[in-house]
Amino acid sequence: MKTLTITRPDDLHLHVRNGAVLKTVLPHTARQFARAIIMPNLKPPVTTVAQALVYREEILQAVPAGVDFTPLMTLYLTGSTTVDEIEKAAASEHVHAFKLYPAGATTNSDSGVADIKAVYPLFAAMEKHDIPLLIHGEVTDEACDIFDRERVFIDRYLTDIAKNFPGLRIVLEHVTTTEAVQFVQAASAHIAATITPQHLLFNRNALLAGGIKPHYYCLPIIKREAHRLSLVKAATSGNPKFFLGTDSAPHLSSLKETSCGCAGCYSAHAALELYAEAFERVGALDKLEAFASFYGADFYRLPRNSGSVTLEKTTWTVPPVYGENGLSITPLGANEELSWKLKAAA
Ligand code: DOR
Ligand code: ZN
Repeated sequence: MKTLTITRPDDLHLHVRNGAVLKTVLPHTARQFARAIIMPNLKPPVTTVAQALVYREEILQAVPAGVDFTPLMTLYLTGSTTVDEIEKAAASEHVHAFKLYPAGATTNSDSGVADIKAVYPLFAAMEKHDIPLLIHGEVTDEACDIFDRERVFIDRYLTDIAKNFPGLRIVLEHVTTTEAVQFVQAASAHIAATITPQHLLFNRNALLAGGIKPHYYCLPIIKREAHRLSLVKAATSGNPKFFLGTDSAPHLSSLKETSCGCAGCYSAHAALELYAEAFERVGALDKLEAFASFYGADFYRLPRNSGSVTLEKTTWTVPPVYGENGLSITPLGANEELSWKLKAAA
């Protein structure tokens, strides 16, 4: 059987929630990834180091016995974040970044930043203390077409942030457009991007053609084919600025299959398999290891993982749902066949 063995990877953008959902989804991530950058958009959001440490403990409780998994915590940036908190975060061994959500851009972003210029002093503090800024790069302007919101954010905000804070490490999260790829390629080595499996595998037809399919709805929204091709090219180019971040974002099936469904694709159940699918389609499986296991760790200045994971070339069908005791989460690719399957962590 054809197999692919790579260094144990990291997921540099992950939502695991809390409570019963956390217990359902975390084992899926921990069986393949050694570490993950944990998003802080809980209700209420994780805004302080003290809260992040409590959340970290809850996550560790959900790691199955005998599995080695390290959550890398982030703090949710608000208009009320203090320079003191940034100093504390930078000094903490468990907090690795701040996340900027423009207020109203996505799930649980109400407490996000309404006036980006007003938090420039906070960006200055992050630059000084060398803690990365992770950005959900979409404008929230009602008048801006949803398919243009990333491109406009880059023009209206990100270009200026990059210019004013040249030493600040920035990750433009879950890039979805040719313009975002070009921006990151042209920027300094301090600016990188994560790419999700859904944006590599699907274009907006998956969401909207032949019936509306809510499990393909996430933010930033999946774009047209030309953008998908740009993302595949970036991910498989061997450029260390582009690395793996699933943005796996579980929502209960009932909250997605409704007249106003939540944004987020649940991909942690088969994250590496989905990326392998995308890389193999363009004959670039040899580029998967660095994208999944090296470039993200290097950007965050973490040691690369030891140990390995092995994928086997074998067809399997993704279950329709995950969860028990009435909890139901529909995974990305539900009922579809995948051609790679994770074997075991060594
Ligand atoms: O689709 C998304 N879901 N995009 C985000 O930015 C947030 C995420 C979530 O938390 O559900
Ligand atoms: Zn996210």
